[in-house]
Amino acid sequence: MSNTVQKNIDYKKYVVSSNLQYFKPHATKIEKTFAEEISSSLNNDSKSIHPKFFYDKKGSDLFEKICSLPEYYPTRTEITILKKLQDDLDSYIDESFRLVELGSGTSVKTRLILDIFTKLQNTTEYFPIDISEILTESSEQLLKDYSGLHITGIIDTYEGGLQFLKNFDDKKNLIIFLGSSFGNFSPNDGYKFLQKINSTMKSGDLFLIGLDLVKDKQILESAYTDSQDVTAEFNLNVLSRINDELDADFYLKNFAHHAIYNEEEQRIEMYLKSLVNQSVIISKSNLLLNLEKDELIHTEYSYKYKLSQIHELLTSTGFEIKHTWLDDNQYFSLTLVSKN
Ligand SMILES: C[S@@+](CC[C@H](N)C(=O)[O-])C[C@H]1O[C@@H](n2cnc3c(N)ncnc32)[C@H](O)[C@@H]1O
Repeated sequence: MSNTVQKNIDYKKYVVSSNLQYFKPHATKIEKTFAEEISSSLNNDSKSIHPKFFYDKKGSDLFEKICSLPEYYPTRTEITILKKLQDDLDSYIDESFRLVELGSGTSVKTRLILDIFTKLQNTTEYFPIDISEILTESSEQLLKDYSGLHITGIIDTYEGGLQFLKNFDDKKNLIIFLGSSFGNFSPNDGYKFLQKINSTMKSGDLFLIGLDLVKDKQILESAYTDSQDVTAEFNLNVLSRINDELDADFYLKNFAHHAIYNEEEQRIEMYLKSLVNQSVIISKSNLLLNLEKDELIHTEYSYKYKLSQIHELLTSTGFEIKHTWLDDNQYFSLTLVSKN
């Protein structure tokens, strides 16, 4: 274990077994950050809740349900592409690589990459990074199925995880960022985030990014407003989470899920719409929130890209494109890059 980690007092280390350990910021820091961020993002003319707060235990379970909805094409499409990539990946990596994943969630798709790693290596190191506690469950599941796997989980934001990884050791990393989660960043923040990933990487490291492509508006909108209302439940759950963790009194029946595709901006915009004039107290954020009827709280953007934009974005942030894989419908893309 590198000294960088041992000395990192921001994290508490949990050793579960000889092949599973994880690091987590101290509980007081997590609660304070949540309360402060909610206070500043809702105490505004244009109100928002950051999408990273969707993922408490219930939110992570609901996202899993979303992934298998008929309307939600991204998960099954990305899995199809990962299967194609399986035939090619061993020409880019070797026994010296570690697998690092941003926003690993249930690590279901990860298995398609781990299959390649475990064929090439006797011992495979996997570093999942996820803000959700789901990371621990997913890691235990993986260890049941992959012998020779060693997992170091970082239960923190992407940025925290990347900081953790920076200068960790000299081992080569393949960093993966699947599910088009990058699409949640605004163009400006996304650009800076790619620069951050680039500066975390050593020469020889690789980065694989999954991005959703621009397509028919109707296909996009039904993926975010499904017929079973699971996405609506997922969106509304963030209010239950604020009620539970920040001592608030959101009445969920006074809100509705609202998602539209903004063609000009190439993004799905997801909101919670206030159905009445109302006031909500969020005690731990010291906030009295006044909402008018039809006022929107923004909860997520999901940007869609053209292939040329993906290549432009990656090259302008210091990457060299190695390969892009697509599905037959060209709904989704996976791009492998190295540091320039
Ligand atoms: C859309 S899900 C994708 C999960 C999985 N990678 C997939 O492709 O199905 C996003 C995952 O990233 C995590 N996440 C969201 N925002 C995050 C952030 N800012 N930092 C760290 N993890 C985050 C969530 O907990 C969730 O597991």
